[in-house]
Parts: sequence; C-alpha cells; structure tokens
Amino acid sequence: MAITIHRALLVATVVLATVIRNSVVVVDAREIQISNQVSLKMAVIVHCASKDSDLGAHLLGYNDTVSWYFEPNLFGGTLFWCNAAFRDGRLSFVAYDQESDLTQLQYWVVDEKGAYGRRSSSGPYARFVAQWMRVWVPGP
Ligand SMILES: *[C@@H]1O[C@H](CO)[C@@H](O)[C@H](O)[C@H]1NC(C)=O
Repeated sequence: MAITIHRALLVATVVLATVIRNSVVVVDAREIQISNQVSLKMAVIVHCASKDSDLGAHLLGYNDTVSWYFEPNLFGGTLFWCNAAFRDGRLSFVAYDQESDLTQLQYWVVDEKGAYGRRSSSGPYARFVAQWMRVWVPGP
C-alpha cells in the first residue's frame, strides 16, 4: 500500500513537472511577424526592439516578411515596438505588449494606409494601429 502511494506520487510529480516545463518553454513562446504589403513594389525598412534586444533594421521588399521568436518575461513587462519607413512616410507601433490586449496581435501587415495587427498568420485583420506620417521631402 505504502509503495503504491509512493509510486503514484512519483508519477504525479513527473507529470506535473512536464506540464510546468511545457507551459514555460513551449506554450509561452511567441512569434511576431511583419509583412510588407505596400503596393507599387516599394521597399520598407522595419526596425524593432525591446528593452533587452535590438532586432536591427530589415529592408523588406514587397510581400517580404521579417519574423522572430521570443519568450515573454515570466514576471511581465515584455514589450516590443517597431519603427517602419518607406519612401513616402514613417510610422511606429507596439508589436507586442504583455500587459495589454495587444498581446493577441502578433502578426502585422504594413500597406499604403499604415500598420494592421491580426491574431494569426491567416486570420482577418483585427486592428488598424498606425498611420504613415508623411516624410518631409526637400524641394529642388
Ligand atoms: C506573397 O507571399 C506569400 C507567402 O510567401 C505567397 O504565398 C504569395 O503568393 C505572395 N504574393 C505575391 C503577390 O507575391
């Protein structure tokens, strides 16, 4: 009897440890994806960063995508923001905010109107988040 309980506890501990490990390592891993859909085949420069990591500037051709994986901080506060620029404008948006409902919006599209977030790589556009600000172009 004592041995049976001992074994049951051991099994329960292993199962619990597996569940905890999976929820930390696998379930919490996130992907952020940004796709250039600005028509007229214009390149867009995208530069994203968090407090702890700078992902560098990426030059995206039409329909190109930049993406990265990260694990949100167990204690909260993870935030990624992005700057984007093309010939006619620039914009900024928060790509991931652990503290807000933007959490679910991790797939981004920039087109000639601005930046949009959506909940999955194939889902409908959920939210318009940023409009291009026109870049001042010096006269001749
Ligand atoms: C854009 O990229 C997607 C995925 O890479 C591809 O399936 C699609 O055909 C591309 N569209 C255009 C217009 O190039």
